[in-house]
Amino acid sequence: MLTSGNHIWDKKDALSFIKKEEKLVRPANYPEGTPGQGSAIIRTAGGVKVAVLNLEGRVFMNNLDCPFRVADREIERLNVETPIIFVDFHAEATSEKAALGFYLDGRVSAVVGTHTHVQTSDERILPGGTAYMTDAGMCGAFDSVIGVRKEEAIERFLTQLPTKFEVAKKNIRLNAVVIEVNETSGKAISIERISVSCG
Ligand SMILES: [Fe+2]
Repeated sequence: MLTSGNHIWDKKDALSFIKKEEKLVRPANYPEGTPGQGSAIIRTAGGVKVAVLNLEGRVFMNNLDCPFRVADREIERLNVETPIIFVDFHAEATSEKAALGFYLDGRVSAVVGTHTHVQTSDERILPGGTAYMTDAGMCGAFDSVIGVRKEEAIERFLTQLPTKFEVAKKNIRLNAVVIEVNETSGKAISIERISVSCG
């Protein structure tokens, strides 16, 4: 299962590709009629159903439907199938991510943020049993400005002109988070932050 965010539409092929690819989800709070799906259910190797819900924040981002209310609607629908729901909240503002974590606490297994490319160290299990982490970070070059070659990023800040961004390739790290969940209740048991060097 692959979640996404605000850059899912950067290549126009995505509009047709996403209709065919069931393992790719886009944020659920885009307007009705947007191609693709905002959530999906997969089965683990052991046959357990896991729902994955993708949402996008609105603070300093696109003017989308309310992610909080869309989450309410989606959780009700997904709970018919499984108590295990993983939420990827693709958002810029820490406040919006923390608020959604508490808003969904006890109703989903995990709320993990993405988008900033910088891993946070605030992983925890909230009082209601939802695993939470503001941002999972990125898998990419740390000798970079959030994955982009630093020279071009600095140039753009200095000149305010559009510069072509190249993907940086030095000091690659893998950022991730591992969450253990009770498969009957859907509550989180543990959350572990991972950051390893890949050369
Ligand atoms: Fe993003």
